[in-house]
Amino acid sequence: MKRVEIVQIGVGNVGRAVARMVLKERGNWLERWDLDVRYRAVADRSGALGGEELLEEALDLKERGGKLAGLGVEPLRYVISEPPEYGVRRVVLDLAVNGAPYPLDLQAAMGGAGLVLSNKGPLSRSYREYRALTASAGEGLRYEATVGAGLPVISTLQSLLRSGDDVYEILASPSGTLGFILSAVERGSSFSGAVREAVERHYAEPDPRDDLSGLDVARKALILARALGRSLEPEDVPFESLVPEHLVEVSTQEFLQRLEEADEAFAGRVQAAGSRGNVLRYLARIPAEGPVEVGLREVPRSSPFSRLSGAENAFVFRTRRYSELPVTVTGPGAGPECTASGVVYDLLQVARESFERSEEVLKRA
Ligand SMILES: NC(=O)c1ccc[n+]([C@@H]2O[C@H](COP(=O)([O-])OP(=O)(O)OC[C@H]3O[C@@H](n4cnc5c(N)ncnc54)[C@H](OP(=O)(O)O)[C@@H]3O)[C@@H](O)[C@H]2O)c1
Repeated sequence: MKRVEIVQIGVGNVGRAVARMVLKERGNWLERWDLDVRYRAVADRSGALGGEELLEEALDLKERGGKLAGLGVEPLRYVISEPPEYGVRRVVLDLAVNGAPYPLDLQAAMGGAGLVLSNKGPLSRSYREYRALTASAGEGLRYEATVGAGLPVISTLQSLLRSGDDVYEILASPSGTLGFILSAVERGSSFSGAVREAVERHYAEPDPRDDLSGLDVARKALILARALGRSLEPEDVPFESLVPEHLVEVSTQEFLQRLEEADEAFAGRVQAAGSRGNVLRYLARIPAEGPVEVGLREVPRSSPFSRLSGAENAFVFRTRRYSELPVTVTGPGAGPECTASGVVYDLLQVARESFERSEEVLKRA
C-alpha cells in the first residue's frame, strides 16, 4: 500500500471542499491505485490541528466561522519541519490566501514534500522567489487550480510546450468573478447587485475589491507568463482597476454598503459598448514576447469571449501548430467545488508520480 499524508494550509471555502472530496473519494483511490491518503494536519491562521479525529468537527467549525485553535492546535511550522514516517509521501496543499505561507511552502518543498497550490500568492512574488520555489519543488509542484479553478489550463499549456510546439500568445478571460459580474450587468442587473451575488456564491474573494482591482487577473497572467518561460516581475504586468477611486481605502463592509454609488457609471460603460455591437470583457493577453496586457476590453459579439456567461472562463492558446484555429479551454472557472477538483487532480498526480519515480530508482539500483 502507498501511503500519502496531507498537510493542508487553509480551511476556507476551497479547503473545506477539498477535505470533503478527499474524505468521500479516498476509498476509490485505495481500490484503484493502492493509494492510502490521510490527513496529517489542517491549518488556519490560528495553527495546525493534527490527525483526523476532529477533522469533520473542524470542517463544521470553520463553516460557522470559528478558529481551529478552539479544538487545540500546534504551530504549523512544527508540522512542516517534522519529516513524515519512512515510506510515507507528504503533500502540502496551500489553499490559503496571498503570500504568507510562502516560507512554509518553500521549507516543505526543500524537505522533499509535494506541493499543490490553489493560492496564487507563492507564485506571484518576485521572480527570484518564484525560481527558488519552483527549483526546490521540481516535479513535485502543481498549481492547476491557481488559473481557471478546475479547468485543465496549466496542463494544456505544459502539454503544448512539451510536445515541441511554440506558444505565440495566450488570450484569456480568467476571472470567473468578473465574467459573472459583467454578464449579469449585460442582462440588466445592477453592478452592486451582481457583485454582492458573486460574494454570496463564493465566486468572489471575501473582499470583492481583490477581484475588481484586477490584481487577481494580473496574478494569473503572471503565472501563465512564467509558465510560458518568461522571467517577469509582478510590476511587469500592469492592470486596470474597476474599483471606484473613492472606495479604494474604505473598509470591506463600507465598500459593500456603498457599492450602489458605482452602478450608474458602470451601466453606462456596458451600454456604450452594447450600442457599438460589442460586449465588455476583462481580458489578459500574454504574448511570448512583448508587454502583457490586463484590463477591460470591448470585444465583438462574434468573439468566443462574448459568449461566456456566468462564471465561465476561456483560454485561447495560439501556437505554431494551432495558429488558424487555436486551442481553446473553456468552462466554469470559479467556485469551491470546481477548484477542489483541480486541487485533487494535482494531489493524485503528485502522489502517484512520486511513487513511480521511486519504483524507477529501485529498478535501476
Ligand atoms: N474560491 C474560488 O473559486 C477559488 C478559485 C481558484 C483559486 N482560489 C484560491 O484558493 C485560495 C483559497 O480560497 P478560499 O475561497 O477558500 O479563501 P477563504 O475562504 O478566504 O479561505 C482561506 C483560508 O486560508 C487560511 N489562511 C490564510 N492565511 C493563512 C496563513 N498564513 N496560514 C494558515 N492559514 C491561512 C484562512 O484561515 P482563517 O480561517 O483563520 O482566516 C482560511 O482558512 C485563495 O488563494 C483563492 O485565490 C479560489
